[in-house]
Amino acid sequence: MEINIKTCTAFTKQHYNLLLSADPNQELVDNYLPRALCFEAIYHDHLVGILVLLPTHPETLEIVNIAVISPQRNQGIGRQLLAFAEKYAGTHNYKCLEIGTGTTSFGQLYLYQKCGFRVFSVDQDFFTLHYADEIVENHLVLKDMLRLRKVL
Ligand code: ACO
Ligand code: ACO
Repeated sequence: MEINIKTCTAFTKQHYNLLLSADPNQELVDNYLPRALCFEAIYHDHLVGILVLLPTHPETLEIVNIAVISPQRNQGIGRQLLAFAEKYAGTHNYKCLEIGTGTTSFGQLYLYQKCGFRVFSVDQDFFTLHYADEIVENHLVLKDMLRLRKVL
């Protein structure tokens, strides 16, 4: 599935739906969005995905948000967005690409590890401390965040 990935400057309700599907904390999203680089995936003039990159530590770029609209999932768009992030990081002289995800996000963990990311730390209670509402995923209450890194 051939998608077009381009810089995104204006955010519609559709963009927000995508952003919140990856990160349900609107306050956190609104906090990183103005400081981040945002890209949208377009397929036949339709918004199908989003990718938000944030420079964090020196030489490190973090994927803070990645999402694909549900009818188009499992067709390789997420993988293309990850490949784009890696290419972008490489050409802009970052040494590391990072991504954080819940310990209960088995599919996402599978995808990120398949793409070469490795776990390097655990943010214990990240989701209990920063999210007002309980998140249940794969029949488990989400509490901790796994942080993964790919050295470029
Ligand atoms: N459950 C099971 N398997 C999954 C999942 C999942 N949730 N997501 C991806 N995979 C697997 C696919 O089956 C596929 O496996 P294969 O290569 O063996 O066929 C592989 O990962 C590649 O999948 P893609 O089709 O490239 O991924 P997709 O386009 O579906 O995008 C994404 C993945 C972005 C995680 C999408 O499922 C999504 O939008 N989920 C909801 C939002 C979300 O959870 N975002 C990530 C939060 S973390 C963050 O934003 C930093
Ligand atoms: N994949 C997916 N789901 C699993 C797995 C697995 N490998 N193992 C257990 N589950 C799930 C079951 O589906 C079940 O879920 P449910 O309650 O929603 O139905 C739940 O976990 C409980 O399963 P049990 O039937 O109690 O577990 P089981 O008797 O199969 O024993 C064990 C689990 C010991 C991990 C077994 O699968 C096994 O011997 N695996 C091979 C050896 C192994 O991996 N051991 C653990 C290595 S780590 C260590 O030893 C410290």
